[in-house]
Amino acid sequence: MSVKTIEWRDGELLLIDQRRLPRKEVYRVCRNHRQVAQAIRNMVVRGAPAIGVTAAMGVALGARHIRERKNVGAAMERVFKTLADTRPTAVNLHWALARMRSVYEANKDGELTVLRRRLEEAALEMYDADVAANRRLGGLGAALLKDSRRILTHCNAGALATAGYGTALGVLRAMKESGMSIDEVFVDETRPFLQGARLTAWELRKEDIPVTLITDSMMGYVMQRNRVDAVVVGADRVAANGDVANKIGTYTVAVMAQRHGIPFYVACPTSTVDLSCPSGAEIPIEQRAEDEVTHIAGRRIAPDGVNTLNPAFDVTDHSLVSAIITEKAVVTAPYDKNLRDTCAP
Ligand code: MRU
Repeated sequence: MSVKTIEWRDGELLLIDQRRLPRKEVYRVCRNHRQVAQAIRNMVVRGAPAIGVTAAMGVALGARHIRERKNVGAAMERVFKTLADTRPTAVNLHWALARMRSVYEANKDGELTVLRRRLEEAALEMYDADVAANRRLGGLGAALLKDSRRILTHCNAGALATAGYGTALGVLRAMKESGMSIDEVFVDETRPFLQGARLTAWELRKEDIPVTLITDSMMGYVMQRNRVDAVVVGADRVAANGDVANKIGTYTVAVMAQRHGIPFYVACPTSTVDLSCPSGAEIPIEQRAEDEVTHIAGRRIAPDGVNTLNPAFDVTDHSLVSAIITEKAVVTAPYDKNLRDTCAP
């Protein structure tokens, strides 16, 4: 995609402001780790792999502002904590911070300039590795979906949600690149934040992939009328037993897919697989502000004083998942064994 989600430019981090899409393509500049944390929390940047890479760049920015050698330890702990406390569900954030921490540990006693350079290099490597992983998993996914021409997706698991190319949308990109024809992609609007309507529809239009936008409640209708060959979604965290946390509403899609005999695929890099988390029950689910539910595009739609619930993610039981497409392999059941075999370091 021509639009860049994340860009490191001369020690500054540029993020396309995803809250303004599709109407405006504006970039936010982050010059320190606090601005990066704010951008993650406020959804300027969102999507599990994108959050991870952004946080890594936040660590590199944090190190640039340390002036004195003797302050390094305390200052870097503040940087790591500020970034870790932004969003709880996507494990890529914590995976990326753990990687940056190991680079920090290996270089903390040396020259400050060397530490800064190593952290910056590590963040840029992570960026490149994410794009490469998405391209590989896209290719594996395209081969898996060779007989599927009508696909449904939920939320945005595209270039905007990653360093580039995308996971679920990476599969669609790879299908297109390899000359496979895609007749129709149903995009759930994905209330309340509307990642499907605003971001996925925008990305697919840019790629000239045929998109049909539906509200979340229309998904059963299109499945019942035999208009969907396969579902492909991304993930925020895959537990060791194959349970998948993804955008709220994903579980409903998976149940409906099973009801209609439609394969339900999850596309994610191995950085999204958390082997230390035994099952979906242990995945922390982010609860977001009530105004995302009571308002649409800044306008109140609900009466004052109404109670709300706003979990940002749900968990899909592994029994509903047909396969998990990673950059290393397409993983099928039994997930506990096969995820370990594929993803263990
Ligand atoms: O709240 P968001 O927009 O960060 O949630 C994003 C999702 O749920 C995506 O489906 C997931 O991160 C996969 S992105 C490749």
